[in-house]
Amino acid sequence: MSTELRFALVLAGILFNQAATAAGSAEKGKAAYVQHGCWQCHGFAGQGGVTGPKLAPNPMPPEALSAFVRNTRGAMPPYQAAILSDGDLADIHAYLLSIPKAPDYKSIPLLNH
Ligand code: HEC
Repeated sequence: MSTELRFALVLAGILFNQAATAAGSAEKGKAAYVQHGCWQCHGFAGQGGVTGPKLAPNPMPPEALSAFVRNTRGAMPPYQAAILSDGDLADIHAYLLSIPKAPDYKSIPLLNH
């Protein structure tokens, strides 16, 4: 095998690995979101609740989500990695990302008479 080919394969492996870890599973994330009680304050669809702000649609980037959830000193209790793993958090982000935007009211005939 040529050195160039070997290098290309190693690079492809690194890139593939990063994609695999960065992109969580929305399905597993929904379960983790429920299991860790995020819904109690933020609502089941991240729509926001009495205590917690809206998280979706358009969630913050994964790095910001992780930084907030791990270090918050405000009204929300922080979640350390021992309780909520990085994998679960990536999945939760994927779940929030999967929540569709509400349709524009202009696309709903009943609201446009
Ligand atoms: C006990 C209620 C409660 C629970 C449970 C909770 N949160 Fe929160 N969360 C809050 C409150 C209140 C804030 C606003 C606090 C602040 O800004 O300091 C907040 C803020 C956030 C923010 C920042 C939102 C923004 O736009 O600034 C994120 C992200 C977040 N929560 C994610 C989560 C996730 C993920 C979970 C589950 C692992 C979770 N929260 C569980 C109450 C909660």
